[in-house]
Amino acid sequence: MCGIVGYIGPKNAVPIIMEGLKRLEYRGYDSAGIGCMIKGKLKVWKKEGQLANLEGILPEGLASNIGIGHTRWATHGGVTEANAHPQVGSRGKVSVVHNGIIDNYSALKKKLIGEGVAFTSETDTEALANLAEKFLGAGMAPDRAVRETLKLVSGTYGIVFLFTEHPDLIIGARNGSPLVVGVGDGEMFVASDANAIVRHTRQVVYLDDGETVVLTRDGFRTRDLRDAVVDKQVEEIDWVVEETGKNGYENYMLKEIFEQPEAVGRTFGGRLVPEFGTAKLGGLNLERRDFFDIRRVEIVAMGTAYHAGMIGSFLLESIARVPARAEIASELRCRNPIVEKETLYFVVSQSGETADTLLTLREIRNKGGRVMGVVNMVGSTMARESDGGVYIHAGPEMAVASTKAFTCQLMSFNLIALLFARMRDLSLAEGRALVREIQEIPDKMRRVLDQAEEIARIARKYKNAQSFLYLGRGPNYPVALEGALKLKEIAYIFSEGMSAGDVKHGPIALVSEETPVVMIAVKGDNLDKTISGMMEINARKGRIIVVTNVDDERITRIAEDVIRIPETRESLSPLLTVIPLQLLAYYIAVELQRDVDRPRNLAKSVTVE
Ligand code: F6R
Repeated sequence: MCGIVGYIGPKNAVPIIMEGLKRLEYRGYDSAGIGCMIKGKLKVWKKEGQLANLEGILPEGLASNIGIGHTRWATHGGVTEANAHPQVGSRGKVSVVHNGIIDNYSALKKKLIGEGVAFTSETDTEALANLAEKFLGAGMAPDRAVRETLKLVSGTYGIVFLFTEHPDLIIGARNGSPLVVGVGDGEMFVASDANAIVRHTRQVVYLDDGETVVLTRDGFRTRDLRDAVVDKQVEEIDWVVEETGKNGYENYMLKEIFEQPEAVGRTFGGRLVPEFGTAKLGGLNLERRDFFDIRRVEIVAMGTAYHAGMIGSFLLESIARVPARAEIASELRCRNPIVEKETLYFVVSQSGETADTLLTLREIRNKGGRVMGVVNMVGSTMARESDGGVYIHAGPEMAVASTKAFTCQLMSFNLIALLFARMRDLSLAEGRALVREIQEIPDKMRRVLDQAEEIARIARKYKNAQSFLYLGRGPNYPVALEGALKLKEIAYIFSEGMSAGDVKHGPIALVSEETPVVMIAVKGDNLDKTISGMMEINARKGRIIVVTNVDDERITRIAEDVIRIPETRESLSPLLTVIPLQLLAYYIAVELQRDVDRPRNLAKSVTVE
């Protein structure tokens, strides 16, 4: 979602901010802006659309030693230059960049208008710039003005203030939306994501909710909203800054789809114990004896991560025989979750910042539940706030549509299920067999990827369809949901994923020659029933595209197109079946000339509820 970068120090802030914003670009945004101090005056440039548009209006040789920048994903107010950030107070004394949503902004705005303040945007953020200005005008120092402003606010923010009359400091604050301070040598950075500043410093301080920070060139001071000093640890970023280029691919999504064999290899690398047919996951912080007390597992997440969680619950039940279920995080919160001592909770998140998932994590922990994270972003809020977990090691995922994070989440759940299963009923021999099959997955994924051209051909054939259905059973039912989600989000084609068993209870009325039906039919307990479903679709003239690992005459006879994948056990099959669906959505989107990496209306990480 929105991105923030700020700098104060001896260097030129402008390229540092622009480069930092570029590194956050993948999160999705629809306008961008930068504000900096030049010869004692605040200068602000803002532009709708891509960062390149903003770059295009910056004066040549623009230089400043202090500045703040922002990429905005519209929430309050449309995509306009006026609504882009920085938002500046009516007297031009305070400028603000803000991620999050201020719930009570209309009341604040109304009051300020009553006091004669003129507003120029539709944003919630502008009220904060004006409030801070009001407090400055009453003689308060900038840090106090910020605290008094934030005390009046209800909502979420990662926020950074710049003060025209105090060009030697920047103030940041956090409540529900991440903010990280980068500590340099005679220079300081602030950003909504460490990725934006890690090229300049590896010394960082993660703000927690309710904290503010004053940055000067020489250091930082953190306090809470009551002005009490908060001692913060400077942490060293120990992850490698991975190359985030496209590596010769046309766009990030294709690169990330093709990176999956290596990525899932990283997920299980060093974590399999072939000798004992199990997995070791030290990050869970669970003693062996703890496993006796776990009676059930509950997994919460949103979107693609939720689909991975659904498969995770299938794996835990079918392999480890632990009752498990997955829930959409936002729905669980609607129900005032019942938290139980014997339940182990998992949150699944690529970004580690998704508001709905994070708030659920906090609700469960506040009620005494033990929560594990299955997270990609190292140092993210969920990674820091959970009781333990598994980093999925997918590497940076830049395309808005999640692909490699999904398969790495699946691989993580396979490891978790294997570990649980070996602590329960799974025999050593069965555990070893599963370890071997897991090790074979990257190669099998490569064999699926080898069929990209054939899948591109199928995409060309169906690209003009108005709607698609995706059907799967067992662990491939969530894969059907995921395939449909991919097509919706990047090709903007209406598509519905559903259980192959449920389709005849209503949705089959949608089937006609016009609706391609993508079916997943893999070897295992569900094959025959899936093939019967296929017959029913065929009898209603549905055009069937099958993803399958069986050579069955019944399939070849009725399917219009067949995508063959290597054989593996059913519980591991989603790692392979999802790839053709990712590629199909990708190639259809390319055919329709969509912006594959940055689909309309979407953001990479959704940090608002
Ligand atoms: C779809 C997609 C989203 C995310 C969801 C959760 O391609 O990317 O559905 O999966 O917003 O995001 P994370 O995993 O960051 O919590």
